[in-house]
Parts: sequence; C-alpha cells; structure tokens
Amino acid sequence: ERADALPRSLDGRHLVISAGGTREPLDPVRFLGNRSSGKQGYALARVAAQRGAQVTLVSGYTSDLAPPSAVTVVPVRTAQDMQTAVREAAGHADAVIMAAAVADFRPSTVATSKIKKGADEPDTVPLTRNDDILAGLVAARADGELRAETAIVGFAAETGDENGDVLTHARAKFARKKCDLLVVNAVGEGKAFEMDSNAGWILSTDGSETALAHGSKALMASRVLDALTPLLAPTTA
Ligand code: CTP
Ligand code: CA
Repeated sequence: ERADALPRSLDGRHLVISAGGTREPLDPVRFLGNRSSGKQGYALARVAAQRGAQVTLVSGYTSDLAPPSAVTVVPVRTAQDMQTAVREAAGHADAVIMAAAVADFRPSTVATSKIKKGADEPDTVPLTRNDDILAGLVAARADGELRAETAIVGFAAETGDENGDVLTHARAKFARKKCDLLVVNAVGEGKAFEMDSNAGWILSTDGSETALAHGSKALMASRVLDALTPLLAPTTA
C-alpha cells in the first residue's frame, strides 16, 4: 500500500507525536490504564518519517508495536511523564500531534507496598485530575513559551449520546481545546479501539470539517498529515 500521496512534503520538519496509553500507578504492581493500542500514533510517526520529517515519538504503553524506523522513540509511563517529554520535545517542533490516550485522572496517592486484602483494605480510590497536555501546549504557545509557528493537533474519540451526535460533541471539544486541528474518531459499535480502521472527521481552525471515510490507520495518518502540512509555517530554507 502506498499511503503517501505527497512524498517528502515534510522534509526538514520536526514533528512530535504522542501515542499509546499512560498508566497511573496505584501500588508497585497495579495501575489505572486504558485500551489504547498506539497504532494510530505509530502510523502517523511512520508516514511522517516517510514524508521526510524528523519525528520524536513520545510513546506510552502500546500493544506489541515495532518502533517505526528512522523515528526517535521516547518511552513514558504516566501522564505526568508524557507531559514532561512532550513539552521538552515541543520546544523545537514544527508541530505536535497528541494521538495518545492520556489518563484524565491518577490515584491521588501511590502505596509504597502492595495493597492487601484484610482489615485495612480500601473501598474507594481517590483520584486527582492530570494536567491536560494538549490544552497546556495551546496555553504555552499563547504565552510565548512555545513558538507561535508550532502547529498543535488533538485527537478525540467520541460517541453520540442523548446530548448530541459525534460531530456536535467534536465541535464542542474543538472549541474548548483551541488546537489547530482536531481529528475525531467516531467510536462505539466496536469501532476504533483495538481495531485496524476507523472513521470520523478532521476539524480545522479554518472552519473546514473533512469527513474521514473508513480506511487503514496508515491512510488515516496520511489524511491527517495532508491536513496538517498546509498549516505549517513556510520554511526559511
Ligand atoms: N489530552 C491531553 N491530556 C490529557 C487528556 C487528553 O493532552 N490529560 C489530549 C489527548 O491526547 C487528545 C485530546 O486531548 O489529543 C482529547 O482527548 P479527550 O480524552 O478526547 O479529551 P478530554 O478533554 O480529556 O475530554 P473527555 O472528558 O471527553 O475525556
Ligand atoms: Ca480524556
């Protein structure tokens, strides 16, 4: 499969891509995690590298994925680790793509030894909200801590519910996040999680809403990079 319609269109660019899921420890052997496979983020990294980009892949936990060739992988465990790694790499990036499934909450305390059954067993797990890495990037750019030219891309997996359909939720999230592109996957009915294909929309700050037909994660990656490339600042070279 040739997923790439625009060979070398990212030559000389540096992209930071997060992928996979974070794990938030509860005790030395347990964590709160999620089912992210990392496949979409890894596909983005692979296709971006094929298009000539220098790619830093900040990777949480994934299914057993081989790291794409010619990509720098920075492994991370928790959402806090991921934030540190993404912010560090973003300092010299043309774009940051947050494809990771970042845990919204972490256990408020981490037991230093294994939690045991018995008289002292907990019946609840107090949680603390993790920072929103994506929103933090947008804020950092607005505050001048990140170059104004840095493009910022978010991902969202949405289902329809009694409050609205997928696109309605996606538009609301896009308005809240204030990133430059929001890639929306329609989930539910077995779609997206742990599957090899998905479908949704790409919402752009230029007001466009591009529907994404079903296709491989490589094809999705191509479409996302096609939408991102025109947003990148002109190269000085
Ligand atoms: N994200 C992030 N940091 C977090 C949570 C999410 O950077 N702590 C990023 C994800 O990587 C993704 C985007 O934000 O690019 C949207 O994630 P999502 O979970 O859909 O958004 P939330 O704001 O967490 O909303 P929800 O309450 O629906 O989970
Ligand atoms: Ca979330």
